[in-house]
Amino acid sequence: MVDTHHKVKHCLIHTTVAITLFMGFIYFLSSPAANNPTFCGKLCHNMNPAYKSWLKSSHAKINCRDCHISSSYLDILKEKLFVYSFRGVMTITNTYKNPLNGDSLFGQEEMPAERCERCHRNRNRKFNFSKGINMDHKVHQEAMIPCTVCHNRVAHPAAENYEPIKNDSNLKKFKYEDHLDMKKGCWRCHSDSDLFNDPETLAIIKSDKKPPSKCVACHNHDFPFPEGHADKMFRLKEKHGALARKNLAKCLTCHAAGKKFDNDGDVWCSKCHGKTKLSDLVKQ
Ligand code: HEC
Ligand code: HEC
Ligand code: HEC
Ligand code: HEC
Ligand code: HEC
Ligand code: HEC
Ligand code: HEC
Repeated sequence: MVDTHHKVKHCLIHTTVAITLFMGFIYFLSSPAANNPTFCGKLCHNMNPAYKSWLKSSHAKINCRDCHISSSYLDILKEKLFVYSFRGVMTITNTYKNPLNGDSLFGQEEMPAERCERCHRNRNRKFNFSKGINMDHKVHQEAMIPCTVCHNRVAHPAAENYEPIKNDSNLKKFKYEDHLDMKKGCWRCHSDSDLFNDPETLAIIKSDKKPPSKCVACHNHDFPFPEGHADKMFRLKEKHGALARKNLAKCLTCHAAGKKFDNDGDVWCSKCHGKTKLSDLVKQ
């Protein structure tokens, strides 16, 4: 009898100590110190790439929490309790997988447009886009596509260039995907070829509108397209075949293996021409 009493008392003390420590930890997470960008950025080794790249970004004066934490109290509580406390523990115990967010799921799923709209009101705003590019923010907003589906690296450009990603021998070739890129970003939805279409990204669209795939949906007619490419008939042999015969080397500045418009690491032309040697193909 005395023994059980003792055990219960002991257990109560343990629980109280645990709860107090946990509450203290949560309190600490919401304190000014923990909300200061330098806190985690400098102290947590695995956050270094995110912190250093942020310092170099257009948002270097914008606090981490403006993008990373919701403004609803309920959400803040939920995030602090269930997300950030676990992330904190993982950070302290160094059990995070390197690189953090390597497949950019964060930007694709976790960051609603409202975060960005705290400061950016795009609906009524005219932009100066890069030369030759059209971009319609309104239609994407109507299809409920969050900003970070495209602007995913806006606060962390070239994060892979910093320690510990940089010196991890397993991650030599690792690079965060930047979805403002035409082929790897826009065409996940806008391509009519299975080579680029990404079902998971297409599933984000909350409307029945189909993203157009013709080049001039996004490029002005005066965009410096590669020779012949804007021609609907370019696929025909008299069109691209003739051009290839004239100057294959030029084609390969974009379409050779490893160049920007290759076929997933292979020569682009092999997509349709199989393994035929290009030199044979262009022989008269
Ligand atoms: C302008 C908004 C914005 C600000 C400010 C911002 N981030 Fe981010 N952060 C993002 C977005 C968007 C992603 C998702 C990137 C992706 O999925 O490719 C991200 C990703 C991350 C990641 C995952 C790793 C990575 O590189 O994808 C970490 C860690 C991170 N941020 C920490 C921070 C810290 C620490 C700060 C402040 C020093 C900060 N962020 C400031 C928008 C922001
Ligand atoms: C707290 C305010 C704030 C928040 C939140 C914010 N931004 Fe910005 N953003 C700015 C300011 C200020 C600038 C201008 C920086 C400059 O001109 O130096 C800017 C610049 C930009 C630019 C142009 C510069 C560039 O790097 O391309 C883009 C694009 C952008 N923001 C997108 C976003 C996205 C996407 C989000 C949400 C993930 C976001 N911003 C969240 C304040 C904010
Ligand atoms: C479908 C992809 C996509 C989505 C979604 C998207 N943007 Fe953009 N945004 C672009 C492209 C492409 C540009 C033009 C970049 C260029 O000119 O090189 C751009 C340009 C901008 C610029 C101007 C950059 C500058 O340098 O002046 C800002 C600011 C911006 N976007 C903010 C946002 C915000 C905020 C959201 C969410 C409400 C958003 N964007 C959603 C693709 C997108
Ligand atoms: C998540 C899917 C998705 C991604 C990624 C995406 N878009 Fe779109 N885009 C759409 C949808 C859906 C529409 C059609 C909306 C409509 O018709 O109302 C659209 C329409 C457009 C339009 C209007 C075309 C027209 O003729 O009206 C432009 C321009 C555009 N997108 C540019 C871009 C650019 C540039 C990128 C890459 C930076 C991009 N989009 C990435 C889904 C996407
Ligand atoms: C959904 C929008 C969209 C469509 C459709 C689109 N583009 Fe683009 N394109 C972009 C954007 C955004 C960029 C700038 C970003 C980049 O360089 O990847 C770009 C860049 C380019 C570049 C310059 C690349 C470089 O590295 O200099 C070429 C060439 C190009 N596009 C050709 C085409 C051709 C050919 C088509 C039709 C088969 C096409 N584009 C269709 C959005 C689009
Ligand atoms: C979208 C599919 C596709 C791609 C990608 C493609 N081709 Fe073709 N190509 C064809 C088709 C179809 C023909 C016509 C074949 C026929 O009529 O026998 C053709 C014909 C040719 C011919 C003429 C052959 C002849 O016998 O007259 C040449 C040369 C050629 N392609 C070179 C290239 C090169 C170089 C590339 C890469 C830069 C390339 N093609 C990429 C589909 C493609
Ligand atoms: C400046 C870069 C660039 C150069 C140079 C270039 N292309 Fe392309 N090519 C592209 C882009 C961008 C696309 C559209 C994106 C894609 O399909 O990957 C494309 C698409 C194609 C396609 C597929 C068209 C379709 O309708 O599906 C063929 C075929 C092709 N190129 C052949 C050639 C040939 C042949 C040459 C040389 C005469 C050449 N390209 C030179 C960038 C280039």
